[in-house]
Amino acid sequence: MALHQLIYASQPFGFDNAMLAGILLDARRCNTRDGITGALIVRGDIYIQLLEGPKKKVEACYTRIRQDDRHANPRTLMKRSIKTRLFPDWAMKDDPAQSWVWSIDDVRDGAVERATEDEALGFFTRLAAKDVAAFQRRSLPH
Ligand SMILES: Cc1cc2nc3c(=O)[nH]c(=O)nc-3n(C[C@H](O)[C@H](O)[C@H](O)COP(=O)(O)O)c2cc1C
Repeated sequence: MALHQLIYASQPFGFDNAMLAGILLDARRCNTRDGITGALIVRGDIYIQLLEGPKKKVEACYTRIRQDDRHANPRTLMKRSIKTRLFPDWAMKDDPAQSWVWSIDDVRDGAVERATEDEALGFFTRLAAKDVAAFQRRSLPH
C-alpha cells in the first residue's frame, strides 16, 4: 500500500521540557493507533516534524496538529508518496536539532520560508542514517 510522507516546521509556543513530554505522549499514543511513524526535531525556536503512514491518517493527524496551540505558524515543507518508511521503528522519534539543521540565525533570517523540499528531507535522511549507524555499532561483536 502506498504511504504518505509529510514534513512541516512550526514555532514552539511556551516551550519547556514538560510541554515537550506532553506532546510526545500524545503523539506516540495517537501514532501507534494510526500506524504513523516519524521524527520530531526540537529546539526552543523551531519544531521540524516528519510524519509518515497511511495517507488519510497522516492528513487527519496534520489537521489536528495544525490546530494545537502548543505551537504556531505550521508551514508544510514537503509531501510525497513513499514505498518505504524512514523511521519504521519510531511512533515518534525526538531529537534535538543537530549541526546539519538550520541555526537559530538561519531561522531568524527566514530559512523556513526559503526551504526546499530536498533540504527538509535531507535533515531527516541524516537523522535516520544516524539511527542505523548506532544500531550497527550496538550489533558489533565485543
Ligand atoms: C509539535 C507537535 C507535534 C505533534 N505530533 C503529533 C503526532 O505526531 N501525532 C499526533 O497524533 N499528535 C501530535 N501532536 C498532538 C496533536 O496536536 C493532538 O494533541 C493529538 O493528536 C490529540 O488530538 P485530540 O486531542 O484531538 O485527540 C503534536 C502536537 C505538537 C504541538
